[in-house]
Amino acid sequence: MTAGIASVGSYIPARRVSNEELSKTVDTSDEWIRTHTGIGNRHIASDKETCSYMATEAAKEVLEKAGMSKDDVDIIIVATITPDYRDFPATANLVQRNLGIGNIGSFDVKAACTGFVYGLELGRGLILAGTAKNILVIGVEKLSAITNWNDRGTAVLFGDGAGAVVLTPRVKGEGIVDSVLRTDGTGYDALNMPIGGTATPFIPGETPEEDLYIYMDGQRVYNFAVKVNVEIVMELMKRNGLTADDVDYIVPHQANYRIILAASRRAKIPMEKYYLNMEEFANTSSASIPLALAEMDRKGLLKKGMKILTVGFGGGLTYGGNYIVW
Ligand code: UT7
Repeated sequence: MTAGIASVGSYIPARRVSNEELSKTVDTSDEWIRTHTGIGNRHIASDKETCSYMATEAAKEVLEKAGMSKDDVDIIIVATITPDYRDFPATANLVQRNLGIGNIGSFDVKAACTGFVYGLELGRGLILAGTAKNILVIGVEKLSAITNWNDRGTAVLFGDGAGAVVLTPRVKGEGIVDSVLRTDGTGYDALNMPIGGTATPFIPGETPEEDLYIYMDGQRVYNFAVKVNVEIVMELMKRNGLTADDVDYIVPHQANYRIILAASRRAKIPMEKYYLNMEEFANTSSASIPLALAEMDRKGLLKKGMKILTVGFGGGLTYGGNYIVW
C-alpha cells in the first residue's frame, strides 16, 4: 500500500500583472525580467484573496474532480510561508473551517519552496501508517504581501496562487513511490524574512522598513538551486532504477528558467522533460509545483502510469523531490 494523487486543482487570482505593467512602478524592464528569469507575468491576490481563501477554492476544485465529498477528507496539510496568521493558527485550520469539515486533523508545513514536496511525503506517511485515508495537500502563497515592491531584485520574481491535490491509498508501485527531503540550515540567511520572529522581533521606530520583507541573496540561492536540482533528480533516478528516458516529466519549483536550463545541461536531461510555467505565474513558492501539475492536468498531459519527478528548492535552505507514478 502507498498513496497516490487522485486529482489536482488550483486557484489563480484574476489580477494578472505583466512585466510591462510592473516596470511602470519598479525600475526594471520586460527584457531584463524575461532574459534573467523567464518570467512574463504574475497573478496578484486581492485583499479578499487570503491564503486560506485561495487554498479553500483549490481544495473545492480538487474534491469535485476526484468525485469526493468534503466529509471524505481525514487530514488537511497546507504548505505555505505566507499564512493568514503569522504564527498561529495554522492556515490549514482555516481551510477546515471554510470547508466545514468536523473531526479531522490539520496542520501547516513551513518548508518554503519545497513545502509541497514535504507535504506530499507527510501525507503518504500518514496514509501508510493507517492514520488517514484521504488527505488534502495544498500549496498556497500570497508572496505579494511580503514582497518589497521597492526592491527590483525580488519584486519581479514572485506571484500568488494555490494548487492542491487529494491523496488516496494506492497499491505499491503506483502513486508516490519515493521522496527525498533535505535541509541545509547553514543557508538560513540566504533567503528569509529577517524580522518578526522571536529571535529578531519587530521594534517600532528601530526596525528598518526593508527588513519587514523577503530578503534574498540571489546569486547564492541561484548556485544552490542549480546544484540541488541535479542532486535530487539524480538521486531519485538512481534509487528507483530510472534513466532519463524512463522519466516522462520533471516538475521543478518554478523559480527561474535559467536555473532549470543549467540543471538540465548538468544532468544531461533534455529541457523538454521539464515542465515550466513561470512565464505565466512567476515564483509562487509552495504553490508552484501543484500549480504546474494542475495546469498539466488541464492540458491533458498527465496519463496513468507516467513517471514524474518533482523537485523543490528554496528558503531554509530546503530541497527535495518526489517520484510519482501517475
Ligand atoms: O524560490 C526560491 C528560490 N529562489 C531562486 O531560485 C532565485 C535564485 N536567484 C535568481 O534567480 C537570480 O539570482 C536573480 C533572478 C534573482 C537575479 O539574476 P542575476 O542574473 O543573478 O542578476 P544579478 O543579481 O547578478 O544582477 C545583475 C544586474 C545588476 O546590475 P549591475 O550591478 O550589473 O549594474 C542588478 O542591479 O541586474 C540588475 N538587476 C536588475 N535590473 C533590472 C537586478 N534586478 C533587476 C531587475 N531589473 N529586476
